[in-house]
Amino acid sequence: MTHHRLLFVCLGNICRSPMAEGVFAQVADLAGHRDRFVLESAGTASWHVGNPPDPRGQAAAAARGIDISALRGRQVSQQDFTDFDLLLAMDASNHSELVDLAPEGSAHKVRLFLDDVPEIGISEVPDPYYGGDEGFEQVLDLLEAGSKALLNRLSR
Ligand code: 4NP
Repeated sequence: MTHHRLLFVCLGNICRSPMAEGVFAQVADLAGHRDRFVLESAGTASWHVGNPPDPRGQAAAAARGIDISALRGRQVSQQDFTDFDLLLAMDASNHSELVDLAPEGSAHKVRLFLDDVPEIGISEVPDPYYGGDEGFEQVLDLLEAGSKALLNRLSR
């Protein structure tokens, strides 16, 4: 398998995308392929630059053996389209923001994260920020399914 640089992208970079980075790292690790990936996450917005992941997301991830406490928010930049092979958007709004930001000829690097799991019938990872703890559990379930499918595709 070749080397892949993946950037997970949501709105704030404190809920979905840091959880995605942590879940994918765990899935790749369990498959024995962690060393084949460079993983980072970013937000389209700048509100939470420098902030740790939402405590609810940290706790939900920790309960599944995933430590995302050291991650810090940052905003996606045009340089990311050079530095990464794939930019994985959590929802359609993140996707369209990324396509708008993409330098000429690099929009093909933008994908919806759940594109690899069409069978689950959900195309977007819902924003859990304004909801309860159960939203974070649902996000983790979706991220786990999407990460396994993405890893499988990239391993072929
Ligand atoms: P995320 O969730 O995009 O999954 O990190 C959000 C976090 C913060 C805000 C919105 C969404 N916010 O409005 O501050």
